[in-house]
Amino acid sequence: MIDLRFFSGATALALLLAGAAHAQTPKSGEQVYKEVCAACHAQGVANAPKFGDKKIWTPLIAEGQAVLTAHAWVGVRAMPPRGGNPNLSQEEFSRAVAYMARAAGGNWRDPDAKMLGRIKAEEAERVKNLNTKK
Ligand code: HEC
Repeated sequence: MIDLRFFSGATALALLLAGAAHAQTPKSGEQVYKEVCAACHAQGVANAPKFGDKKIWTPLIAEGQAVLTAHAWVGVRAMPPRGGNPNLSQEEFSRAVAYMARAAGGNWRDPDAKMLGRIKAEEAERVKNLNTKK
């Protein structure tokens, strides 16, 4: 006979551990892109900058990694905040932006702690400007 009390306890523990592991290992940029961003960016839905299109991405890449990532995170016109997925961490989102930039000729790497700090600062700046400009 299976002891169901033990079973449900073990399941809860396994879920807890899986959740902890998830928090420690952010998804790769490619994974996030495929799961979330590709829905619009693969084909350029609503004028989303199309994946791999160097002509469109070159001026965006020129804005710099911290600025572009922060603006996209906050949301730009038809681009929803966090790509419309509130469960994404800022690190995962940033990795997806870097992945898209690389696909269009940029040399952006997955953000390290320093870059994540700069993205946070740009986010604060952007939010402040959005709140003051009507
Ligand atoms: C619902 C559709 C949609 C999804 C999903 C989406 N985007 Fe976008 N994205 C857009 C559109 C539309 C624009 C163009 C906004 C504009 O300039 O008017 C855009 C623009 C951007 C830009 C350029 C921002 C700028 O300052 O011009 C970046 C970077 C970006 N998206 C990253 C992402 C990432 C990363 C994801 C996935 C986590 C994602 N997007 C998911 C629609 C989407």
